Amino acid sequence: MTRRVDLRSDTVTQPTPEMRAAMASAVVGDDGYGEDPSVNALEQYFAELVGKPAAIFVPSGVMANQLAVRVLTRPGDVIIAGRSQHVVSFEMGASARNSSVQFATVDDNRGSFAVSDVVDIIDAQFDHQPDVAMVAVENTHMPSGGVPWDVQELHNLKRAIGERTIHLDGARLFNAVVATGTSAAQYCAPVDTVMACLSKGLCAPVGSLLAGPLELMERARVERKRLGGTMRQAGVLAAAGMVALTSMIDRLAEDHVRARQLAELFSATFPEVEYDPTTCRTNIVAFDHPQARQLVQELSTRGVEGGTVAPRRVRFVTHADLSDEDVSYVAEVLGDFRSSMPKRIATN
Ligand SMILES: Cc1ncc(COP(=O)(O)O)c(C=O)c1O
Repeated sequence: MTRRVDLRSDTVTQPTPEMRAAMASAVVGDDGYGEDPSVNALEQYFAELVGKPAAIFVPSGVMANQLAVRVLTRPGDVIIAGRSQHVVSFEMGASARNSSVQFATVDDNRGSFAVSDVVDIIDAQFDHQPDVAMVAVENTHMPSGGVPWDVQELHNLKRAIGERTIHLDGARLFNAVVATGTSAAQYCAPVDTVMACLSKGLCAPVGSLLAGPLELMERARVERKRLGGTMRQAGVLAAAGMVALTSMIDRLAEDHVRARQLAELFSATFPEVEYDPTTCRTNIVAFDHPQARQLVQELSTRGVEGGTVAPRRVRFVTHADLSDEDVSYVAEVLGDFRSSMPKRIATN
């Protein structure tokens, strides 16, 4: 039987046995009244980890981003963000729908974006263009292949935008932490709000956290209610989240090693697309291919599951539920693929 190696996303991970045990014995209460001790403990732990006064537990990363947009903007405001960031391109227009804001986007092909591009957009306010309320940053930056930001660039950005705010979409913040050695608190010092997902590489079944100043997090609780995101005995989920934050961060390094191995394999299989495997610094292999969808489909028939994040961009993500044998299997499939490739995937 064909092996199945699921590289579609790090969200496919199963909760660990330790998480399941913690969930089963979690002490819970009604979080709508702020009475769930496991949720309260998780929020406090995360706030301390990222160096912010308060945090709020929410069902998903999208909701955390959307709460940040709600509390940091007014209708009609502009948010500056990288063109391919999740909050711009992968949330079904939620920011426009929920908060009546618009995006002014900058080039983020290489992951981070240029502070000078942001300053140019802010400057346009003097040419009758709308107010810029905030800048959204993604770290790691998913579509570029999980590229981590340089913390100094975040400080430069903060300095350049005056009183405007920064929201950090840190769905994979801890991948950036592990790859760069910059701590979560160091990464978050120049930003106003930060969100991180527990349900990606950290393997928790559900949940994300948003952290920031106390007053903003109190408002975020009201907005969470408005969006239907208040949960009740959510401590069963928070208990798994606590295991994620206390014992799963260092393990991400293994995902990074396997992703680089895959990056080298893909680069060698498709030399014509000129993918540089050294750009793969965390757990995402992403590169442009003229027949991206066909490539993903062909690999899928051989048990290697990936995805596309744009019409000509493929993505393969490593995570905890992969083994070295899975990587060897991908090597085998790609080796075989290379010999039959001319009639299957032509790159012109
Ligand atoms: C960078 C980034 N931000 C936000 C999200 C949204 O997270 P969720 O799927 O939990 O809503 C994702 C999910 O893939 C993501 O990759």
